[in-house]
Amino acid sequence: MGDKSSRKPSREYRALATNSWTLWDVIYGRRSLRKYAPFEPDERFAEELSRVIALALKARGAPGGSIIPVTDRDTGERIRKRSYVGITNKINLWLARNQVNAFLVIALPSEDMERDRPILLPRIAMALEDCVLWLTERGIGTCWLGGVNEREVRKALSLDEGTAVPAIVCFGEPGSGRLPGYDDLMVRTFSRRRKPLAEIAGLETADRPFRIGPSGGRTFEVSESQDVERLLDDLDRGGPGDSQGDLPLDIALEACLESARVAPSASNLQAWKFVAVTDRARLDELMTALPREMSRGTDAWRAAVVAAGMVGTMSSRMLDKPFWMLDVPIALSHMTLVAASMRMRVGVWTDGVDETAINRLVSLPDGWRSVGVMTVR
Ligand SMILES: Cc1cc2nc3c(=O)[nH]c(=O)nc-3n(C[C@H](O)[C@H](O)[C@H](O)COP(=O)(O)O)c2cc1C
Repeated sequence: MGDKSSRKPSREYRALATNSWTLWDVIYGRRSLRKYAPFEPDERFAEELSRVIALALKARGAPGGSIIPVTDRDTGERIRKRSYVGITNKINLWLARNQVNAFLVIALPSEDMERDRPILLPRIAMALEDCVLWLTERGIGTCWLGGVNEREVRKALSLDEGTAVPAIVCFGEPGSGRLPGYDDLMVRTFSRRRKPLAEIAGLETADRPFRIGPSGGRTFEVSESQDVERLLDDLDRGGPGDSQGDLPLDIALEACLESARVAPSASNLQAWKFVAVTDRARLDELMTALPREMSRGTDAWRAAVVAAGMVGTMSSRMLDKPFWMLDVPIALSHMTLVAASMRMRVGVWTDGVDETAINRLVSLPDGWRSVGVMTVR
């Protein structure tokens, strides 16, 4: 148990709940799909999608309009055909052999991307992964695309020069059969690999591995809300926050960390570390590094997870993108939804934080930066 280098569950989480903990089906069921069949979304689907995008952006505190849904065929075709133009985007040549023509496009002011700590980007990335999970729930395949020609996508959507498009997600009906040769090999061997929990997660400090302990026969009740939309609603209201006394904190934290472990990341690099903080004195110290509104009633928080990313990875340098501000927020989307699925009250903070103090508290190594903090109770 606990040393799995794959996407297979580190433990049978569903079996720990006395009722249905179905969010796991979505967390483990999601994978990047690179083979699509024709997909003609109807008006009703487009409406539902717009509603979920708006809800996700609101729940994550991101401005409306910063995720653009593209469901009309002509615009979608233009994006598909133009997105892999350019030498660094050749990894996405598989788009040329596919019929996928629906997209979710991140659009934000480029000044945000130029900041030392972008404010909007991590919020939007969390919201976009929420949408990916919502699509997964509906049996729709998705793939994050960071290696896309930004200028061409901007043109296809008539966006101005001041708008940055750091990543898009394509989605559609899963196709059957395998991808030809190399692509298939890449997907099957590389995409499925995951670092074991102890390698990416720490307890109290980054250098102290988080160990999976025995469940000791403990079981607990999870939330009635298990679908992404209701969970987002709960997160938006800061609730449900009525977790019962029977929820064991060690297992609850492990479940959150596990959902981060299997999240998608650029080139599957998993250049992330998650540090669970449970010690009361350390929690108090952490709270002082969070925005002022947090300093009230801090003793109510049972624990926190600091989520950090490595800056300057190979992919970041090649594509000139701050992947730490995409990958780590994606993992935060998973962790916060899983926490809410256990009826925990959840907070997530990615800006207005004293990053130096947080990095020091959890002993992050050089080259690593904390992206956000999730608090739970
Ligand atoms: C920010 C980001 C950018 C990505 N960019 C691409 C891309 O340009 N092309 C691609 O085929 N996959 C891309 N991926 C998908 C990853 O390769 C994939 O998530 C990883 O290999 C893990 O596989 P899985 O998603 O099937 O679990 C990207 C993922 C993320 C999170």
